[in-house]
Amino acid sequence: MENIALNFNRALGFISQESVDSYKTQAEKYNLALHEKTLRGNDFLGWVNLPSSISEEHIVDVENTAKKLLAKKLDILVVVGIGGSYLGAKAVIDALSSNFSNFVKGDAPHVIFAGQNISEDYLAELRQLLQGKEYGIVIISKSGTTTEPALAFRVLKKDIEEKYGKDEAGNRIIAVTDASKGALRQLATEEGYKTFVIPDDVGGRFSVLTPVGLIAIACAGFDIRQLIQGAKDMEAQTSPEVKFEDNIAAQYAAVRNELYKDGKKIEILVNYNPKLHYFAEWWKQLYGESEGKEGKGIYPSSVDFSSDLHSMGQYIQEGERTLFETVLSIKNVDNTVVVPNDEANLDNLNFLAGKRVDEVNKMAELGTALAHVDGGVPNIHVEVPQISEYYLGQLIYFFEKACGISGYMLEVNPFNQPGVEAYKKNMFALLEKPGFEEETKKIKEKLK
Ligand code: PA5
Repeated sequence: MENIALNFNRALGFISQESVDSYKTQAEKYNLALHEKTLRGNDFLGWVNLPSSISEEHIVDVENTAKKLLAKKLDILVVVGIGGSYLGAKAVIDALSSNFSNFVKGDAPHVIFAGQNISEDYLAELRQLLQGKEYGIVIISKSGTTTEPALAFRVLKKDIEEKYGKDEAGNRIIAVTDASKGALRQLATEEGYKTFVIPDDVGGRFSVLTPVGLIAIACAGFDIRQLIQGAKDMEAQTSPEVKFEDNIAAQYAAVRNELYKDGKKIEILVNYNPKLHYFAEWWKQLYGESEGKEGKGIYPSSVDFSSDLHSMGQYIQEGERTLFETVLSIKNVDNTVVVPNDEANLDNLNFLAGKRVDEVNKMAELGTALAHVDGGVPNIHVEVPQISEYYLGQLIYFFEKACGISGYMLEVNPFNQPGVEAYKKNMFALLEKPGFEEETKKIKEKLK
């Protein structure tokens, strides 16, 4: 079995191998600290040993719940959640699905997400779409009190109860939330929904391998065992027993921190396969929420190439030299399309005849990396043997482990997100939520 591989040779013109190697002691120390739970945020390290500690019983419970729901021949499964309670499942399902639909297996429903925004149009159009369809709902919220998913669920719950009656609606709703706290736990208990617990010590952005991600992924027809196996193998490959030189998560953490010190403040996650668009969104949350604090942190951004070479390519090639790229490079694609010969050759593309489209894509990838390096943009290369459950599992754990080590290198607590509360406080004050009277008064003054 191949593994995902890290290559940062094209960053070495900007930083030296010696400077990367100088991170060895701290990288090994921080990796060990993640396992021994000795540093900041140590009450949120449940993800570190998660892949190797998931029980067979738990996997069977998730699979059986998905089977039970799928037996209802759903057209659509609506997954309600935001942030860490949304992006992991969306990333994996999109990566594994056809570009044009996520119908994979004959009886798998189309998985649609809600509660990840407060757009009235989005919700209205979703309700229209659900009319006349067979559907079920998975509502995911660790706190059980997040406004966006709670609001969407309130609307969707009413609709599903009107359509199927309260009892059958209850059979079509699964709740994923805290073991005992929060409004969603109380609601689920009262309504008798099937529930899954989000462990206390796993934060939202690290929770894709808990029921937060697994339920939706299993319902979409994908193999959660392979996903977990991939993560488990990467857990072993990045464990504290593995020395820095062989630990790709520690090396990635070191390289990006060294680039950051060198003035490269923005990391762009690049893909050449649009199925990975949401994987990048997941990655952005992971790194943005973990590192962007105390006035510090690399700004994580992403592009889909070659599409974005025709929009953002100019800036990346010649704009401010504060960027570096991390390329997710897929070695083997799933399908074959060969460029046909054309006798008239009016488009002058016969020089490509007989080549696979992926060969062209790979040359675009190599040509771009070389051009961007020449233009002053260091390039980190992460090769993924193929897009499959197994390798997505490897990739997820690789980035999670690297994020923990990297955050400690930056000397922040990578496992909190205090900054996320600021907008909520203002929103509640503006909406005159009970308990926010003082804030309402202040914000109204400010707006005068
Ligand atoms: O990573 C995080 O902690 C956040 O993105 C949360 O996952 C997000 O705010 C949703 O929270 P909850 O699951 O409590 O509704």
